[in-house]
Amino acid sequence: MIVIASDHAAYPLKVSLLKYFDKNKINYLDLGTNSLESVDYPDYGIKLGKAVMSGKYEYGIAMCGTGIGISIAANKVKGVRAALVTNEKTAALAKEHNNANVIAFGGRTTTLKEAIKIIKAFNKAKYDPRHQKRIDKITNYEAEK
Ligand code: RB5
Repeated sequence: MIVIASDHAAYPLKVSLLKYFDKNKINYLDLGTNSLESVDYPDYGIKLGKAVMSGKYEYGIAMCGTGIGISIAANKVKGVRAALVTNEKTAALAKEHNNANVIAFGGRTTTLKEAIKIIKAFNKAKYDPRHQKRIDKITNYEAEK
């Protein structure tokens, strides 16, 4: 099960993505927002990050206008590795090298077609544990704070 959240700027893309998920029987939990009314992306990034760290979901999808703000916010939740991805290549590398547990992209910068390609590439990619030492450095730094 995937957990997904967006602000108003990415709401239209999220609606299209959720239709795609429904059609393809992909399970998800949508944490909002649920309209075009202006909201603050940190609220959704932090909520999504906490949901991912609950361990109940495979990974999270975070969207705002650019994906930048919501990825910054999600990354403030301990243990979250949110990667702002722009295409299949960066989506695959976010899993292979960074073991990202959240992918972020922009509702104003990413088309539905690109978003689907990104999700498929991330799902298909496998984490390569030879990068573990670097991830451990991030985890250790977080533990010190
Ligand atoms: C909202 O207008 C916009 O700033 C937000 O969606 C996002 O792009 C921030 O990074």
